[in-house]
Amino acid sequence: MRARLLHLLLAAATLGPIPVLASPISYALPAETAAFKPGPNLDVVKNNCSACHSADYVSTQPRGAKDKRAFWQAEVTKMIKVYGAPIADTDVAGIVDYLATAY
Ligand code: HEC
Repeated sequence: MRARLLHLLLAAATLGPIPVLASPISYALPAETAAFKPGPNLDVVKNNCSACHSADYVSTQPRGAKDKRAFWQAEVTKMIKVYGAPIADTDVAGIVDYLATAY
């Protein structure tokens, strides 16, 4: 029994690589369920905040910060400084306005 298995393994090994026919796999991704709330500067926010993660990251933040503006300013600064988000200085105020108002 053992010898037979060894034989089979040897045979398989000497056959060399077995050609695999690759065919494209297509699958449908689920629709994006997270979306930014409507509001002024939404386009700026979408342009700057959608590249790395979904809008969930914004909508799941704890609510009720004492100073929403400071909270979101810190978040945006973190995205730029820590995570390297390429956000223009001139866009930051509009983004913070939007976030502090909509969330
Ligand atoms: C360059 C990529 C990048 C861009 C662009 C970006 N983020 Fe992030 N963001 C990250 C990473 C990385 C994390 C941390 C992910 C993790 O912890 O899983 C994160 C996390 C977050 C979080 C979760 C809380 C936290 O501090 O970790 C929030 C809120 C957030 N981002 C908001 C924003 C907003 C608002 C924008 C647009 C101004 C933005 N992000 C743009 C990379 C990015």
